[in-house]
Amino acid sequence: MLTFVVFFIIIATSHSLDNGLARTPPMGWLAWQRFRCNTDCISDPDHCISEKLFMTMADRLVSDGYAAAGYKLISLDDCWLAKTRDKKGRLQPDHDRFPSGIKALADYIHAKGLRFGIYEDYGNYTCAGYPGILGHLETDAKTFAEWDVDYVKLDGCYAYPSQMDAGYPEFGYLLNKTGRQMIYSCSWPYYQLATSLQPDYKTIAKVCNLWRNFDDIDDSWESVQKIIDYYGDNQDELIPNAGPGHWNDPDMLIIGNFGLSYEQSRSQMAIWAILAAPLLMSVDLRTIRPEYRDILLNKYVIQVNQDPLGNQGRRVYKESGIEIWMKPVTPVINGKYSYAVAFLNRRTDGTPSEVSVGLKELGLNHEKGYKVLELFDKKDLGVKDPVDRVKVDVNPTGVVLLKFIALKHSVKRFGN
Ligand SMILES: *[C@@H]1O[C@H](CO)[C@@H](O)[C@H](O)[C@H]1NC(C)=O
Ligand SMILES: *[C@@H]1O[C@H](CO)[C@@H](O)[C@H](O)[C@H]1NC(C)=O
Repeated sequence: MLTFVVFFIIIATSHSLDNGLARTPPMGWLAWQRFRCNTDCISDPDHCISEKLFMTMADRLVSDGYAAAGYKLISLDDCWLAKTRDKKGRLQPDHDRFPSGIKALADYIHAKGLRFGIYEDYGNYTCAGYPGILGHLETDAKTFAEWDVDYVKLDGCYAYPSQMDAGYPEFGYLLNKTGRQMIYSCSWPYYQLATSLQPDYKTIAKVCNLWRNFDDIDDSWESVQKIIDYYGDNQDELIPNAGPGHWNDPDMLIIGNFGLSYEQSRSQMAIWAILAAPLLMSVDLRTIRPEYRDILLNKYVIQVNQDPLGNQGRRVYKESGIEIWMKPVTPVINGKYSYAVAFLNRRTDGTPSEVSVGLKELGLNHEKGYKVLELFDKKDLGVKDPVDRVKVDVNPTGVVLLKFIALKHSVKRFGN
């Protein structure tokens, strides 16, 4: 039994980037976490960073139902570049691994109805040591527009974090000036926090569509938990910055790789949905097991993530390894929100933990009641009123994700 009171403050952020993009968190596929900087196409042709890899993943995104579920972006990460610029000072891909060039790759991806993302770095070099954009900002913005890029992830290695308050807006301005709409993903606050500078989130939300706040994700439950803790511990600072067009980015989904169990994969998916996080899968779509694919394709969970209000949810309870996370979502009935509620079990006892909580304690006080759905196993838990309780069994390192849908009319019922 839990006792606590929940306060929700819903703040409408008004001044933010108005390029019309990323009204809901971006969804797609990003190479880094699964394929890293594997440039060895001689001995590992199926896993190296090459145009073939991105074309294959684009094919899979469409043929295996991901694109239909909303995952529309295919994005390069580090290590696509040649070590030097071309004779005119423009960026160029490694010609052995991208023999057709980046424009041709973008065309291929667009022809499938998908969007194309690119990676660069604000500094002198990318993190892996390829040419960065510093000193070439205008040329590179133009090059991206000429290549029909839709999404730019701009990293921050080999740069001074103190100069990012000027540099990231300058590049954002230059992207805008090209006239091509490109989602702008920034690593700006992450590098500032890493060097103990205080990010100016108000400005960041005006310049970037999404931004990284915390360490790169690794392929482990430990890494996922660190990220979950960071977003819970710093939620009062982070939540007000998020909303349609501008999102905190806790990094890629690692579901379907090597490091997460089935339960832990549901946990990552649920918390990323609650956080209104970008859903950027980084997994080999050729070999992912069906049960992990089902987690990524769960349309009810995706709907929580993509809710049009764009509220980033918050951790409302944390004790003895049990956490409750809540996100206000549509429909809103007479000013009362519906909610997605994640019950997360961080405990590792060899048995599920029972969590029982009254709706009122969760702040669910809509008098007409809520229709309650369990989203992963797709169970209808009936109608609950503020005086009722919910009871769930949460598996070790797993999650139960419920949606409380505010009702328009009270439902007459017996028993309960
Ligand atoms: C980037 O290169 C310039 C020119 O060589 C140099 O002045 C600057 O210190 C470098 N920046 C970093 C972060 O190393
Ligand atoms: C450029 O910025 C203006 C003003 O913020 C905005 O209205 C416009 O849509 C932007 N254009 C592009 C291509 O992003």
